[in-house]
Amino acid sequence: MDLVELERRARTVLTRDAYDYYAGGADDEVTVADNVAAWSRLRLRPHVLRDVSAVTTATTVLGTPVELPVLVAPMAYQRLATDAGEAATARAAAAAGTVMLVSTLATVSLEDVAAAAPQAPRWFQLYVHRDRGWTEELVRRAAAAGYRALVLTVDLPVLGYRPRDERNAFSLPDGLEMANVGRTTADTEDMSALRLYASQEMDAALTPADIDWLRGLVDLPVLVKGVLRGDDARLAVDAGAAGVIVSNHGGRQLDGAVSGADALPDVAAAVAGRAEVYVDGGVRRGTDVVKALALGARAVLVGRPLLWGLACGGEQGAVDVLDGLRAELARALALCGTPTPDDVTRDLIAP
Ligand SMILES: Cc1cc2nc3c(=O)[nH]c(=O)nc-3n(C[C@H](O)[C@H](O)[C@H](O)COP(=O)(O)O)c2cc1C
Repeated sequence: MDLVELERRARTVLTRDAYDYYAGGADDEVTVADNVAAWSRLRLRPHVLRDVSAVTTATTVLGTPVELPVLVAPMAYQRLATDAGEAATARAAAAAGTVMLVSTLATVSLEDVAAAAPQAPRWFQLYVHRDRGWTEELVRRAAAAGYRALVLTVDLPVLGYRPRDERNAFSLPDGLEMANVGRTTADTEDMSALRLYASQEMDAALTPADIDWLRGLVDLPVLVKGVLRGDDARLAVDAGAAGVIVSNHGGRQLDGAVSGADALPDVAAAVAGRAEVYVDGGVRRGTDVVKALALGARAVLVGRPLLWGLACGGEQGAVDVLDGLRAELARALALCGTPTPDDVTRDLIAP
């Protein structure tokens, strides 16, 4: 499946502001580009003479069965892509048999996202706000609505400087709001409204103790998203995290940060099987998924391609992206001589 072509088409249907918000990254977008390049630098050493007549892409994530080790990354503002927004994504993830991570900054409330695909597994991505009382309430709402895990994003103490959004003085258009927060972004004249919001509302003082705090609020596993170093991953797991997500936020936070692909081996080694490890950033091919599994990931998260699918074809467009990745992964597993995700081992990557 040609996701580059899909992005090209999405660019023609989205407003300039929306496309720039989705596609853009921090500063010079060095990390945005490197996220994709890092996967393609890795080389596979496939096995042959192995029975791959029955291949499956199915696996489990935190014990939940999924049809493919590709989850939907949490992304804000999905109603910019299609009117049903996050509700469409929830139905698409359910149809494809995978887990959707729902952003704190969704444009459909977490309850309405849950109601769109009530049977499907979902995780809630949390931005801790300075207003801890409100944050606590949000966490309890997610638990009450049946979300099965909390994903604590830790790489946004301040918002990265995103030149495209600054240039566009990007804010949510009329009629759209951050539905969980219950507000629109302020209209700004000369800066990104999201950067203003983050600087006023988000808590820049998170420490490992906050993982413990969250675990005390609700009976849900906590994953920590935005880890790029083994030592930090170990701290998170020591503090009770059930999983870590190796991520540089799609290159939207610290430009020049190491890619998920390059950071993954260090994190996987440090975690040493004590928690599940996930990775995201620039995953665009089934072979990228195989490489991630080989380097120690349980599954990957995919971000922007889902937005391009939503923009071009709504819910079905997002299903097509996930189905396309599943077909590529099945082919890659067969060609690697590894009929199931569990058969993929570290030695599949050339040293
Ligand atoms: C438009 C957009 C909005 C995002 N919003 C969030 C968010 O609200 N919370 C979060 O933890 N990560 C957010 N991310 C980061 C993604 O979860 C993910 O880490 C990243 O997009 C993966 O890289 P990829 O887009 O190259 O697949 C966002 C990414 C994009 C592109």
